[in-house]
Amino acid sequence: MKRVLVLPGDGIGPEIVAEAVKVIQCLRERHGLELVLEEALVGGAAYDATGQPLPAETLERARAADAVLLGAVGGRKWEGLDISVRPEKGLLGLREGLQLFANLRPAILYPQLADASSLRPEVVAGLDIMIVRELTGGIYFGQPRGVRTGADGRREGFNTLVYDETEIRRIGRVAFGIARARNGRLCSVDKANVLECTELWREVMTELAAEYPDVELSHMYVDNAAMQLVRSPKQFDVVVTTNLFGDILSDEAAMLTGSIGMLPSASLDADGKGMYEPIHGSAPDIAGQGVANPLATILSVAMMLRYSLGEEALARRIETAVGEVLDQGLRTPDIAAADSRVVGTREMGDAVVAALS
Ligand code: IPM
Ligand code: MG
Repeated sequence: MKRVLVLPGDGIGPEIVAEAVKVIQCLRERHGLELVLEEALVGGAAYDATGQPLPAETLERARAADAVLLGAVGGRKWEGLDISVRPEKGLLGLREGLQLFANLRPAILYPQLADASSLRPEVVAGLDIMIVRELTGGIYFGQPRGVRTGADGRREGFNTLVYDETEIRRIGRVAFGIARARNGRLCSVDKANVLECTELWREVMTELAAEYPDVELSHMYVDNAAMQLVRSPKQFDVVVTTNLFGDILSDEAAMLTGSIGMLPSASLDADGKGMYEPIHGSAPDIAGQGVANPLATILSVAMMLRYSLGEEALARRIETAVGEVLDQGLRTPDIAAADSRVVGTREMGDAVVAALS
């Protein structure tokens, strides 16, 4: 039987994960889904209990599981800690420890939420972009790194941007594969005019294109991509980029949809094992109030069913149920408009369960 490790984490994490677990229970009880749920600590919650944001036991259990469902990590309480034990290290440690090199971040505009975008409806209507972000390399993990003090007492901070061609090729293959299954267009984003490392990135992507004659590959500098995303975002279908550029562009793309509280993500290894999480963070400002939007986490369960558990039909069921709930006019405060029925985290989760039943 498949095993899923649930890591609620910090801030609103436990609240939204509880709703996602309700959805999983419903699928088990009524739709024949067979899986075992386990729970463990990560992030600030883990630090408070064990002194480590990623206890060895959590990593071990994550390795043993077929998939991981994560809420969010981080919060003001832990901001003063040394960077090596901050909650974010728990997340980075999971990505590295599980070799989750492929991060899939869809930016989809739900037609029901067209008014939530800060861009004009005609610019974003029908938006459906998939950002494929490299997640275990680049400047996030490159060595050497640190802050050193020179002989003259001057401090110097440094990080290393490094990718070898194997890393570029494996994320490239994931992106080409996704582009092939969608509309056959892939845009690789780099800074090849300045950074040698991404000059290599561009070269390797171009070499790979020969293996995917049905995919049309284009290249774009990251500054231009940031601009094009707000100028005419619908020109993009699948975007593949480095860890840091992907971090930035995926937040920008998410906001085009007006609803960062709606967007799920998947982080996959080479064998389809994955970690699934909403792309929004732990939102400490609203934690504990029962108002957080659980839909991104619930949609992350759909991605988990699709990419790690081989349950495409159930994934679609969840996505349909979310659409129905939006059609009913239910909205958490983050996606509310003047005439919507504002509900809390729990009511939203219950409504999805009801729509599934
Ligand atoms: C993300 C987040 C993380 C990142 C942080 C929390 C370490 O911003 O998943 O995009 O930078 O990757
Ligand atoms: Mg980010």
